[in-house]
Amino acid sequence: MAEFGKIQFQKKNNPTAEQKGTVEWRSPSNIALIKYWGKHKGQIPMNPSLSMTLKYAFTQTEVSWEPKNTNEKVAFDFFLGHEKAGEEFEKRIEMLIRHFANEFPQLLDYRFNIKSINTFPHSTGIASSASGLSALALSILSVALKTNAASMNYDEQVQKASYYARLGSGSACRSVEGPYMIWGSGAQTNSSDQYAIPFTPHKDFHKIHDSIILFDKRPKKVGSSAGHALMKEHPYRKGRIEQAKKNTKKLIEAMNAGDFETWQYITEQEALSLHGLMMSSPQPVLLLEPNTLKFINDLLEFRTGKGYKVAFTIDAGPNIHLLYAPSDRKAIQDFIGSWLLDNHLNLEVIDDETGNGAKQLF
Ligand code: DP6
Repeated sequence: MAEFGKIQFQKKNNPTAEQKGTVEWRSPSNIALIKYWGKHKGQIPMNPSLSMTLKYAFTQTEVSWEPKNTNEKVAFDFFLGHEKAGEEFEKRIEMLIRHFANEFPQLLDYRFNIKSINTFPHSTGIASSASGLSALALSILSVALKTNAASMNYDEQVQKASYYARLGSGSACRSVEGPYMIWGSGAQTNSSDQYAIPFTPHKDFHKIHDSIILFDKRPKKVGSSAGHALMKEHPYRKGRIEQAKKNTKKLIEAMNAGDFETWQYITEQEALSLHGLMMSSPQPVLLLEPNTLKFINDLLEFRTGKGYKVAFTIDAGPNIHLLYAPSDRKAIQDFIGSWLLDNHLNLEVIDDETGNGAKQLF
C-alpha cells in the first residue's frame, strides 16, 4: 500500500496510551475542476483529478472513545446533528473503522461516539461525503495515535488521513488540505492514487469565489458509486483517461502561471465532458436541467469580450458552481442577481471561496 513513512507503533497495554477521550476535526468540502469519474477496486481513481478546497462548507466531527469488552465487533454510535445515521452511511463508517483497524488493531478495543454537523444543508450540490468522511478519517486517525501513545508530524498525519478518507469516499481524500488538491497518478511526478497532495498555484488563484446556484435541492438522481460504474464499459473510457491526464497537466501549468484563460477553458471542458460521458454511457444519465443550460448560455453571452476571470463547473447534478476572481466579484454577482430576477427564479445561492483545509479543534 502506502508510500508514506512508517511509524513504529507500540503494542497494546501501553501505560501512556489514552483509554478514554475526545478529539474533534473540522474538514471542508471541495469542488473538482478536473473530475474524478470512474474507479477501480479499492477506490483507486481511473484518472487524476484536481480540486479547490472550500472555506465555509465544512463538516465538524467529534469522536469520543472508551474501552469496550470484546474486540469482535466494531462498535459506534453516529449522529448527524440530532439524527442517527442511515444504514448506508453506517456501513461506510464501519468499513472505514475496519480499514483503520488493519493498521491500528487496538481500535477494536474501543467503542466510539461520533457526532457530526455540517454547515450546509444536505443535498445542496455540495459534497457532504467529501467533508464528512475526511473529518471522520482525521478524527479516527487522531484516536488511533492517542490510543497507541504514538505521534506523527502534521504532514504525515494529513497524508495518512487522506489515504483513509479515500477509502471512505474518493473525493474525500481531497478535503484534508488546500488551497487546491491533486489526486491520482499521472498528473505529476509525485501525485498518487492512494492519497491527495496539496497544490499551491500562482497567488492570483489563492482566493477564488464560488457561488453555488442551486437549481435543484433534491437528493442526487444517481449515487456516486452507480455513477462511477458507468465508466466500466464506457465506449469513450480510454479517451477520457487521456483527456483527464492532459487536462490536469495543462491546468497545473496554467494555474502556476496565473493564466485564467486556460483555467476557464479546461474547467468548463471538464464539467461538460463529465455530463457528456454520463449522457453517452451504456445506460445514459441526464442530470442537466433546462435552467442549468440557459444559465450557461446566458453567461457565455454576457461575458463575451469582457475578459472576466470566471468559469463554471458542475458535479453529478444540475447545480452550478460559478468560480471567479475577487476583481470580478461585483460584475458576476450582479449578473447572477439579474439573471434570477429576469427568469423569475427564487433560487438559493450559496457563497463560498477557496479554503485552506482541515483543522483540529481538540
Ligand atoms: C462528480 O467521491 O462522491 O463529484 O468514491 O464513490 O464516494 P465515491 O465517489 P465521490 O465522486 C465524486 C464525483 C464527482 C467528481 C469529483 O468530485 O471529482
